[in-house]
Amino acid sequence: MDKLRIVGGNRLSGEVSISGAKNAALPILCAALLTPDPIVLRNVPALNDIHTTLKVLGQLGVKVQWLEPGVVQLQANEISSYEAPYELVKTMRASILVLGPLLARFGQARVSLPGGCAIGQRPVDQHIKGLAALGADIRVEHGFVVAKAKKLQGASIRTDMVTVGGTEQFLMSAVLANGTTVLENAAREPEVVDLAELLISMGASISGHGTDRIVINGVGQLHGTDYTVVPDRIEAGTFLCAVAAAGGEITLRNAAPDTMGAILDKLTEAGLQLETGSDWIRASMHGRPRAVGIKTFEHPGFPTDMQAQIMALDSIANGTSFIVENIFENRYMHVPELIRMGADIELDGHTAVVNGVQQLFGAKVMATDLRASASLVIAALAATGETIIDRIYHLDRGYERMEVKLKALGAQIERLRG
Ligand code: EPZ
Repeated sequence: MDKLRIVGGNRLSGEVSISGAKNAALPILCAALLTPDPIVLRNVPALNDIHTTLKVLGQLGVKVQWLEPGVVQLQANEISSYEAPYELVKTMRASILVLGPLLARFGQARVSLPGGCAIGQRPVDQHIKGLAALGADIRVEHGFVVAKAKKLQGASIRTDMVTVGGTEQFLMSAVLANGTTVLENAAREPEVVDLAELLISMGASISGHGTDRIVINGVGQLHGTDYTVVPDRIEAGTFLCAVAAAGGEITLRNAAPDTMGAILDKLTEAGLQLETGSDWIRASMHGRPRAVGIKTFEHPGFPTDMQAQIMALDSIANGTSFIVENIFENRYMHVPELIRMGADIELDGHTAVVNGVQQLFGAKVMATDLRASASLVIAALAATGETIIDRIYHLDRGYERMEVKLKALGAQIERLRG
């Protein structure tokens, strides 16, 4: 297993190019199932989760061809299977998103339940509830979701809670259904908007995406497209936390600041000086960060995927901060690892109280999940001495060549092949 070795203390400077958004690319790849035509997708990040999704699609019979780095062509004109196996789905829960497109286009699907993951139980009951509302005969048996539908029928779907994956599942199901579907309580994340825009570029009729009420008028079929994935706001936010913690001045290229309101507001409050253009962000940090409190909420609130990174910054900030994780039930596994580096953090249920310390110290730590890994990298960049982060396959799921990008910004970082 690869490790990262980081020696902290270097200020960051220079430019970094932000990759395409993992959480937009994953559902967008699954949308290829909705048409027999080829679709070309650009700005697709080279991540383990992307490769796993392409493997799942390949097993269904989708033709996958990388035209150049970041550009992949998919064609689902010879689908040979309607089953997504446990072996692949268990490693990448977003594979559950092949369920809706298979059902919408082929009337059948058998997809393994994803199972939980480190940050939570991750149920899919809302996905099942919504597909049933669209007329699917759907049930869970032997660890699989088994679904059939002659033709999905438009319906009104209100989920019990806001669910990003659920909203994406219903978008990709309703586009080929008979009649109109209304999603109430829909997710408003930029990645959901990007999926809706991709579907519209394929001929779908969708309005209201980006609000909590989305209307989809089913069409007979969808056609091919050539579409560019939105930049990754969480990767961008992670680099901004890194420069806020380590100090220095960096410029993010190929970013989408207009999708990052809550993140940019919070980092400004922490003392990061920011300038933005349509696709770039310049950030400079002088002096010690100020402690900032966050409560995670659905978009446009502060994103749960940035909670661990902000906590690393708060660990060395001037003051005490309160962090409340409202979305996932177990998203504090970075806390014991940060404490090993000298952080002063107390957990009380969903709340973490962070008393900023003057400095952290390098240590051997272990990554436990994707964003926890990013949190440890940020802490290590600011710490005194050497940190070795183990199990960084978690990091590789969601960050493209993180150590290469950080090294180019002046960090003392290297990957130890394990
Ligand atoms: C997406 O996960 C993201 N993943 C997550 O990013 C992100 O943290 C999450 O949305 C919230 O923004 C992808 O897009 C691939 P949800 P998703 O359905 O769709 C509960 C990362 O680090 N729920 O919005 O699985 C669920 O348990 C990852 O990049 C149900 O109870 O999240 C959670 O508490 C981590 N039943 C809450 O809703 C359901 O049927 C939000 O989950 C569905 C969800």
